[in-house]
Amino acid sequence: MNRRHLLTTCVAAGLLASASLAQAQEKFRIGLILPMSGPFASTGKQIEAAARLYMAQHGDTVGGKKVELIVKDDTSAPDVTKRIAQELVVNEKVQVLAGFGLTPLALATAPIATQSKTPLVVMAAATSSITEASPFIIRTSFTLPQAAVAMGDWAPKNGIKTAVTLVSDYGPGIDAEKYFKDRMVLNGAKILDTLRVPMRNPDFAPFLQKVRDLKPDAVYVFVPSGIGAPLMKQFAERGLDKAGIRLIGTGDITDDDILNGMGDVALGVVTSHHYSASHNSALNKKFVEAFQKANGGLRPNFMAVGGYDGMRVIYEAAKATKGGSGQALLDAMKGQIFESPRGPMFIDAQTRDVVHNIYIRKVEKVGGQLFNQEFATLKDVKDPGKTK
Ligand code: PHB
Repeated sequence: MNRRHLLTTCVAAGLLASASLAQAQEKFRIGLILPMSGPFASTGKQIEAAARLYMAQHGDTVGGKKVELIVKDDTSAPDVTKRIAQELVVNEKVQVLAGFGLTPLALATAPIATQSKTPLVVMAAATSSITEASPFIIRTSFTLPQAAVAMGDWAPKNGIKTAVTLVSDYGPGIDAEKYFKDRMVLNGAKILDTLRVPMRNPDFAPFLQKVRDLKPDAVYVFVPSGIGAPLMKQFAERGLDKAGIRLIGTGDITDDDILNGMGDVALGVVTSHHYSASHNSALNKKFVEAFQKANGGLRPNFMAVGGYDGMRVIYEAAKATKGGSGQALLDAMKGQIFESPRGPMFIDAQTRDVVHNIYIRKVEKVGGQLFNQEFATLKDVKDPGKTK
């Protein structure tokens, strides 16, 4: 080999080496925006723990790129969520925005996803209309109408002919109220009143007094994850259980994160939801065990599962597109079908929303601990809130 040949070979080898180095250093960035402080901090904690567990189990390289998870606390303030999302897109060049602990936080950020063509994975928020706020939104949590319709069918068949609704006064609460009420009425039952409580720091006392005076067969409740415990306590303190009024609702009120601390007052509460930590499948048992092991015994709730499944959707899309971004990455998220710790689920390619089973559950003591025990299943429930 003459000198010139040698030189060319060396240069080529050098270029190759630096190219593969650049490739190895190329990142796939996920911006995870969550309430990590304030009244909804449990949502942030659960989702971050689940995302980290997913990465620990599936590696931190995907589609040939190193995954970088950037976690930010939005303190559950919509203007903060939006500002953080903008910074993550512009400065950090994230391929995906994820998290979104409350409906207003997801809605505030939707325009950023649209303008920057960045897929936005909603892992927690659950108002039906969220997926319609941007064509770049995908959801792995659930929708309130999915849960509410199931209870509107179950209750009248189980001795509940009259009910009062009591919901947090914002998107998901209003969805829960509407879909439960319409279904109850369709089934010949009566709604005696529809009560709405403030979303933050609610004082349930005057509302529960009103329920007591109305003497319905049941009070149907939605409050966001993290708020259910004081409601449950005041329900008993005001003697509603003794007055023969049943407490029913969405699974948010018997959230696995706080259920065990509620005590026996929660026993017998029937709810409809997509996830229980006691869901009977091999995959869920493995998930709960690994989650608890990695988090000092913390029990995963439905927020954790939304985060875990969200990471699955992101990883598989990154694999299919070799660490792609924008429309291609979004397209690879649509239509994914897989087994989740909640049971079978898929992302409807048309609506970009989650389709999964809804379970009717009752709080029971198992091995000295309180669990939502699933006893009936509605299969493959689409969001009833979608008109198209
Ligand atoms: C929501 O704000 O969309 C939300 C938050 C917590 C829940 C359910 C829905 O448990």
